Amino acid sequence: MNIDLTGKTAIVTGATGQLGRTIARSLAQCGADMAVHYLKNQEKANELVQDITAMGRKAIAVQADVADQVSVNRMAQRVIAELGAPQIVVNCAVSQYTWTSVLEQDPKDYVDQFDTCVMHNVLMAKAFIPHMVKARYGRFIGINTECVMQCLPGQSAYVAGKRGMDGVYRILAREVGMHGITVNQVAPGWTISDRERESGVKPSPDYTSHVALNRRGTDQEIANAVAFLASDLAAFITGVYLPVCGGYVMPAI
Ligand SMILES: NC(=O)c1ccc[n+]([C@@H]2O[C@H](COP(=O)([O-])OP(=O)(O)OC[C@H]3O[C@@H](n4cnc5c(N)ncnc54)[C@H](OP(=O)(O)O)[C@@H]3O)[C@@H](O)[C@H]2O)c1
Repeated sequence: MNIDLTGKTAIVTGATGQLGRTIARSLAQCGADMAVHYLKNQEKANELVQDITAMGRKAIAVQADVADQVSVNRMAQRVIAELGAPQIVVNCAVSQYTWTSVLEQDPKDYVDQFDTCVMHNVLMAKAFIPHMVKARYGRFIGINTECVMQCLPGQSAYVAGKRGMDGVYRILAREVGMHGITVNQVAPGWTISDRERESGVKPSPDYTSHVALNRRGTDQEIANAVAFLASDLAAFITGVYLPVCGGYVMPAI
């Protein structure tokens, strides 16, 4: 069995980020044409477009602020005009901030996380799912985090945003499932990506001692899970929060 996305079009938000770039490349390697979304890093987006077109796929770079409905809708119009309506949407973008305690955290950070974790996914659903409904087919995938099950000190703004996102995904899965659309979340652990490969991956026993597989995962291992959920192999899986964290967190049954 192969993961074959030939003939499909995908959009990945935050495709210039550490995980987004590997997810975008992997979906293209499986055969999908790609809309590579960025906010500020146009150079990385163009580099990815070149990589993907070199694989023989169509690819375009598209800019949008995922917290702004006008911006998201403008991006969607361009993607649909140039590549056709995507069957696969992967929402990976998130804004970064410095983690600290609830008492120290700037209230603006909570708003920012709500915008990029909750509203981002809502706006992408509003922009793309109506086209999936018409096609009676779709894969709507969000990148969540193991942190929502850890609830460790310092994570409150991030966890608040990602827990809100989880609510949107579970409800959306029930609302659109009858149209042949699956809605799932992949929840990475603390993942090794280009940034650390470039600076050198350091051992982190305080973290890995909590991981059943006793190591950190890689960006490619996250992308593998996304590609599976994007494929027809996952046609009967929806409403799932799938940790890809080597067993640090284990959702209860
Ligand atoms: N990395 C990990 O270890 C890890 C672990 C668990 C979960 N995750 C989750 O995985 C996803 C990707 O994380 P990452 O570490 O790869 O992130 P990252 O490297 O910080 O990349 C963030 C991406 O989001 C984009 N972005 C930020 N704010 C935006 C906005 N307002 N509108 C549009 N785009 C915006 C950035 O665009 P530009 O670069 O173009 O400005 C960039 O592409 C996130 O959802 C994160 O919560 C990551």
